[in-house]
Amino acid sequence: MLVEKAVYFKSGLSPCQLLSAVLSAGLQGLNSKNQILLGSGRDAIWILLQDLRRCGYKRVMLPSYLCPSVISPFEKTGTSYRLYKVDRDLRVDLDSIKALSKEEKSPLLVIHYFGFPQQMDELLEFCERNELILIGDCAQSFLGKYAGTPLELIGDYGILSYRKFLPVPKGGALTIRAESDADRLCSIRLQEANYAESLFSTVTLMMKFLHSKSGLRPLRLITTLVNHLQDFLETDGFPERMDLITRRVMSKIDLDEVFRSRRENYEFIEKQLELEEVTPLHPDLPREVCPYGFPLLAEGRDSLVEFLRRRGIETSVDWRLPDYVTKNFPVSREISRRILTLPVHQQLRRDQLLYILESIEAWART
Ligand SMILES: Cc1ncc(COP(=O)(O)O)c(C=O)c1O
Repeated sequence: MLVEKAVYFKSGLSPCQLLSAVLSAGLQGLNSKNQILLGSGRDAIWILLQDLRRCGYKRVMLPSYLCPSVISPFEKTGTSYRLYKVDRDLRVDLDSIKALSKEEKSPLLVIHYFGFPQQMDELLEFCERNELILIGDCAQSFLGKYAGTPLELIGDYGILSYRKFLPVPKGGALTIRAESDADRLCSIRLQEANYAESLFSTVTLMMKFLHSKSGLRPLRLITTLVNHLQDFLETDGFPERMDLITRRVMSKIDLDEVFRSRRENYEFIEKQLELEEVTPLHPDLPREVCPYGFPLLAEGRDSLVEFLRRRGIETSVDWRLPDYVTKNFPVSREISRRILTLPVHQQLRRDQLLYILESIEAWART
């Protein structure tokens, strides 16, 4: 075992949390008639696309700032898409959407990046007026609200990815507004959960928890072995049901506490970070936002990511865009070139946040 500092991007799973989840019998607050619990956010997009195709929609409008996970279900279901513009704050460009929808009435998917909602009043009004289906991708905006309503309940469909916010091995959901759509979608055949994959993912989450708490890193051999086995067991196949480990752990988590501590951590970084070399993408945190991370822009982003990695700090680059996107959308290209996301998750301690900030200052001095 080696002792070292470790700051992960997502929270780990404590053995106590796992034990109490396994011993608990209930699955309170998870099942709702208009929500299908699945293995991932990709599964949610997949079954939605299958259903849209059956209803005659072969194409969807997507933002020109997006991750490969959003695109993969399109490739698997053979659904095509057209990209619309986003601006420098990652807000959707309504004019660009208007231009696309003049040619064809395709469903519109919007992403609430990093937990920050899009301008939903305008979008709802536009979609209603033009009879367009509105899909809210809330993979990065779990627990967030817009004018008092949970983001995933705004529009016709909502996509959720729980593992981005909670220490669960897998987990996503599709929320559906109309009862008739819900009845149809709930009858889609799903694969059983892949328990081998969930189990290894659970072990990894526990190792991360112990590493970041104690600084004791399991031997590299063990980490490598577990990671390899997890990759090997990962099936990117047919959409699957949410596994029982994820359900159990989720039902034991205090979500108010998750919301509160993520916001506190975001605000702490925001107050302390005063460097010319880095610019927060969102300097203000609106009251109803539960942040996924702290996105910032930096020239020489890759060198900062590597500098922090060498100090045991994991960050996330959301996202490196494919060439066909960067070629046609200069604003998206510019953000993608400079963006990185710092962790703000609920398990971070004050000393870890200070260590992240000190490390960024050390990078700026190099
Ligand atoms: C915006 C967005 N939508 C959907 C997904 C897919 O979620 P999952 O990783 O649970 O499949 C992701 C994952 O990175 C995402 O960032």
